[in-house]
Amino acid sequence: MFGLIKTWKALEAKGIMGINRRNADYVLKYNKRNLYPIVDDKIITKLRAIEAGIDVPEMYGVIETERDIEKLSEIVKDHVDFVVKPAQGAGGDGILVIADRFEGRYRTVSGKIITHDEIEHQISNILTGLYSLGGHRDRALIEYRVTPDPIFKSISYEGVPDIRIIVLMGYPVMAMLRLPTRQSGGKANLHQGAIGVGVDLATGITLRGTWLNNKISKHPDTTNAVDGVQLPNWDGFMKLAAGCYELCGLGYIGVDMVLDQDKGPLILELNARPGLNIQIANDCGLTHRAHAVENRIEELKKKGIQETAEERVRFAQELFGHIPTHA
Ligand SMILES: Nc1ncnc2c1ncn2[C@@H]1O[C@H](COP(=O)(O)OP(=O)(O)O)[C@@H](O)[C@H]1O
Ligand SMILES: [Mg+2]
Repeated sequence: MFGLIKTWKALEAKGIMGINRRNADYVLKYNKRNLYPIVDDKIITKLRAIEAGIDVPEMYGVIETERDIEKLSEIVKDHVDFVVKPAQGAGGDGILVIADRFEGRYRTVSGKIITHDEIEHQISNILTGLYSLGGHRDRALIEYRVTPDPIFKSISYEGVPDIRIIVLMGYPVMAMLRLPTRQSGGKANLHQGAIGVGVDLATGITLRGTWLNNKISKHPDTTNAVDGVQLPNWDGFMKLAAGCYELCGLGYIGVDMVLDQDKGPLILELNARPGLNIQIANDCGLTHRAHAVENRIEELKKKGIQETAEERVRFAQELFGHIPTHA
């Protein structure tokens, strides 16, 4: 605990944003309440994204009622692998990643064999709201299982790493690669034990990381260095994230993306209250960057200019790069 306080104290000097400031100055100020359902319900997010021509993992089906649960077999009959998740879940809770079938049963991504009845039971739990924000009744979403791009083989353990970019009024301000570990059960959520690795906004090269609130430079399971890795298609990820402002209308979001081996970059979900650990992973606070964006918007407003997603990405890359691009 003491170590953690020290880490945060050291970061304070670098413009660390605390939870109260995040809530008051960013979440409440930039995120209109009536728009929350677009990001708080993954089914709604997906439909919006499809409408906007943004790629997402394909939706195989939705289960809304207890009676619908029997439709599961029909929904997954053409798919060996798939993912079941609560539409209004968070933090990786309640997600079941099925990677394979075995003798009439299913194999999860971490190798556990489970029965059809167990999956149905899990769906029933999802419907009662066991995993949903505020415990409301929920829907179960069944979707395409992402296969991570081979680039992540050496720095990830099972499951799918995701790329989180914090976007303020359409401007990317900070990025993090989240790597599943043995402990996180194939999920890339920090609370499940995944690693958060900072990413240089200008180049898409990984920095050092944080794991269970400690600073690290090696993956605990593969022991390979997590820093210095060039993420492919980086400008594509930046543009995808910036464009999510137009997609949802919320001014302060965390955009979670994955890189599928066959389908390329996909949007996994949007988050209206993105966590603050991204600052530890980047060894850098959000406050100065957020102010720079707010000043930029103020300046452009006077001139009656609104920047496109490409222009916003360029601004962020010029200002917020960690690694000097020209020596
Ligand atoms: N379609 C999928 N295929 C493979 N893994 C997935 C899929 N959806 C989610 N995951 C894994 O579970 C994690 C959490 O999923 P996400 O949709 O972001 O829900 P949450 O809101 O609980 O974070 C992801 O970071 C990823 O590692
Ligand atoms: Mg997530």
